[in-house]
Amino acid sequence: MAIKIQQAGEFTGFEQVIRFQEDSSGLRGFLAIHSTRLGPALGGVRLKAYASDADAIEDVLKLSRGMTYKCALAELPAGGGKAVILDHAGMVRDAAFRAFGELVESFEGRYRTGPDVGIHDEDLRNVAKATRWVADESDPRLGDISMHTAIGVWHGLRACLDHTGIRTATVAIQGLGNVGMRLAEIVHREGHSVLAADVDPQRVAQAEARFGARAISPQRITAEECDVFAPCALGGVVNRATIPELRCRVVCGAANNVLESLETGDELRRQGIVYPPDYLVNAGGVIRGGEYFLLNSDDSLPSIEKIYARTRNILRESEQSGEPTARIADRMAESRFRG
Ligand code: NAI
Repeated sequence: MAIKIQQAGEFTGFEQVIRFQEDSSGLRGFLAIHSTRLGPALGGVRLKAYASDADAIEDVLKLSRGMTYKCALAELPAGGGKAVILDHAGMVRDAAFRAFGELVESFEGRYRTGPDVGIHDEDLRNVAKATRWVADESDPRLGDISMHTAIGVWHGLRACLDHTGIRTATVAIQGLGNVGMRLAEIVHREGHSVLAADVDPQRVAQAEARFGARAISPQRITAEECDVFAPCALGGVVNRATIPELRCRVVCGAANNVLESLETGDELRRQGIVYPPDYLVNAGGVIRGGEYFLLNSDDSLPSIEKIYARTRNILRESEQSGEPTARIADRMAESRFRG
């Protein structure tokens, strides 16, 4: 397979941003390496039908940058990268993911990939046919990445509950996918109530049956009265349009780039809504992947549990200083990866 690679442009603050294409499989996409200053760039691959190449580039830049911040705050010896594959009808899925594996292999470990939105286990198995540098969950030693993410979100969420003094919470989960469904399971097991919204009604029905969840329309979930709004679908859900309608005390979920902008985080703080930064609480998966890849560890649960203390510390600091949590977290991460 012949993969064509070209620089996608110069982007300030990024080490490398490429466009890739493999014609026989229809593979097309972008890969960004934000920083390898602390170690190899970790970051999954996302499959999505983007409206334009500009949208795909914007996504890959935001996501790869977020990975650098996430790894730095999680104290991993790793940096941030990400890949997005453009979903389209002409793509031959198996062959495209094998070709993507070859692309990953060509980075010789400088970029290491894993699952993100739209990726199935089978896709990663195809990637793994061409590269060692993939968190392929068919290795039982690695374990379930999304479960590790959900456990990390839970530690962040319970830190928010302890911070606010909420004992029994109603948690509104937007998106019952790999992480959201597992989070629903934990929240239910821990004795809290689940409100569930997904564009896929079967997933909602499953949450109703398994966790006694109450179904909420996906259009209404941001305006639903609850203790915790847990975005576990896509990013940007806390924005100028949704902030006025939020009726929760805490926003804490798995989605990357929950805030439309840093200013949105400032507004959340003004409204008294507790928000632990997304990349702090959703780091469980990358902590597992990073420790497996880089430290050869068998068990990352103790490291993931540290998300609880980090979240409490940032919430306390924000309360004392008045500075919004997203800005505190950015500063802490930057001081690590910029040295
Ligand atoms: P997924 O693709 O398995 O699940 C997403 C779910 O959201 C699907 O069930 C989908 O039907 C639903 N959905 C899509 N649009 C929706 C809408 N408008 N309203 C309600 N539901 C909607 O993805 P996954 O892996 O669970 O990831 C969820 C989020 O967490 C993403 O933002 C991802 O970047 C982030 N994340 C995932 C990690 C992981 O370990 N899987 C790690 C860190 C972050």
